[in-house]
Amino acid sequence: MKIHEYQAKEILRRFGVVTPRGIACFSVEEAEAAARSLGGKVWVVKAQIHAGGRGKGGGVKLARSLDEVKSYSQQILGMMLKTHQTGPEGQQVRRLLIEEGADIKKELYVGMVVDRGTQRVCLMASSEGGMDIEEVAEHTPEKIHKVFIDPGMGLKDSEADDVARKIGIPEASLAQSRVALQGLYQAFVETDASLAEINPLILTGSGDVLALDAKFNIDDNAMFRHPDILEMRDLHEEDPYEIQASKFDLNYISLDGNIGCLVNGAGLAMATMDITKLYGGSPANFLDVGGSATAAKVTEAFKIMLNNPKVKAILVNIFGGIMKCDVIAEGIVTAARQVHLTVPLVVRLEGTNVDLGKKILADSGLPIISGNNMADAAAKVVKAAFAVTGVKAAKAKPKAAPAKTKPAVKAKKKAAPTKAKPKAKVAVKKSKAAAKPKAATKVKAKTKIKVKAKPKATAKPKAVAKSKAKVKAKPKAPVKTKPKVKAKAKANTKAKANTKSRPARKAAAKAAPRKSATVKKSAKKLAVRKAAAKGKRK
Ligand SMILES: Nc1ncnc2c1ncn2[C@@H]1O[C@H](COP(=O)(O)OP(=O)(O)O)[C@@H](O)[C@H]1O
Ligand SMILES: [Mg+2]
Repeated sequence: MKIHEYQAKEILRRFGVVTPRGIACFSVEEAEAAARSLGGKVWVVKAQIHAGGRGKGGGVKLARSLDEVKSYSQQILGMMLKTHQTGPEGQQVRRLLIEEGADIKKELYVGMVVDRGTQRVCLMASSEGGMDIEEVAEHTPEKIHKVFIDPGMGLKDSEADDVARKIGIPEASLAQSRVALQGLYQAFVETDASLAEINPLILTGSGDVLALDAKFNIDDNAMFRHPDILEMRDLHEEDPYEIQASKFDLNYISLDGNIGCLVNGAGLAMATMDITKLYGGSPANFLDVGGSATAAKVTEAFKIMLNNPKVKAILVNIFGGIMKCDVIAEGIVTAARQVHLTVPLVVRLEGTNVDLGKKILADSGLPIISGNNMADAAAKVVKAAFAVTGVKAAKAKPKAAPAKTKPAVKAKKKAAPTKAKPKAKVAVKKSKAAAKPKAATKVKAKTKIKVKAKPKATAKPKAVAKSKAKVKAKPKAPVKTKPKVKAKAKANTKAKANTKSRPARKAAAKAAPRKSATVKKSAKKLAVRKAAAKGKRK
């Protein structure tokens, strides 16, 4: 769960970290009164949204008079603030932080994440504060200093001082920076944060060390023990569909496309999104209804998808394992009737009681399109979506799986044949690269990776996902396009936050990027949060 800057500062103060004095406000009048009560001659009007880069986007203004506080507040409150983390449409500003202006001598960066490799909390510090730390990490990684903190010892004085010296804190200010760094560590641990960042931590003209900005992400799985932090949740900052899904314990993530996907199992959900993209479509969501989906849950899932005006067709892909196909078929029929399905629905069932499941669908009298296998279902749903949008169905044919890809570091080594007869298995595996959109996309991932995939598509698999057997997909006609697919998986310390690798998170990273390119909280996590509110442990 994310919180606002002013809330993060509140937490930091509890742990002894010094911040400028500030007051959160919801109106211009409140802002003016806040500045008046803070006193002084310089104030900073700061937009409070769950995204960084506000300064550059015009959401942080230095005011030198009460009139300026008023006019900047008027300007910022209600604005759609666009930053590199909000996506092109921006995020509406509903709250402000009016803060006393600080005398900045130097801006530094300090942040904490959990390092999976060492299984320790990692303190990162840099002399290059105030700016995008990802840029620093990419261009001048030597300017980022790390301390892997021993959980038994905590952040030792010597470690704190050592790193403080490295980022340019003078000897006279070491005692203060020690308090700030150890306070940050303590706050990180005690709030079960997955990310805690102070950017910038500043050194003032008089040598004081202050947290000028603060960002905390709290591990959703730990929310049950932080009811005070749960109260800080701002639903305006979250995706409405994801909020709705969380109420029904659905693992849902909004995406950019127009094909609603309802799947059981996170792995199958990812594969479903992949194959949808492979066939030229674009998923509108990741949705794993889980192994215990009831008709009620399926109905809610349908409602959420249908509420999204972008959804032009729905693909249901169910593997009946624990969940039997007939049960899910009943659920689909009930749900389809209840929600008055307005878009084409393609269903692919496989597994336990599949015949019975198919019969239920067929007997329902509903216009359900049956998919014989994943490839068939994907082809059909893409065609159906294109039919609705009026785009020629021809476009819905699967893109050629790349005969030669340079998707990642490893792939470079292999000299791919110029004319490949890709085996079905390979085609499926590489579908990710093939399915990437043409435009450069950003997906928050754990590390900064530049994936350049230049598929020299010469082959077109006949039956891509038919089986994992060695199906030779002979090219019918060579596809000449040489799409320069450039997918930039942008490192983001904020996204690194979670200690646990959640299937949904992976899914989002694999799936079509969302407009904000922000991998949002999985609905499951939100559900955990909700349960936490009730005091239940999940
Ligand atoms: N209280 C303050 N006094 C003076 N300058 C400030 C204050 N708060 C922020 N700033 C300036 O504005 C910049 C951006 O503010 P920050 O809180 O880091 O927002 P963001 O990271 O979202 O851009 C800071 O790097 C700093 O230079
Ligand atoms: Mg900042």
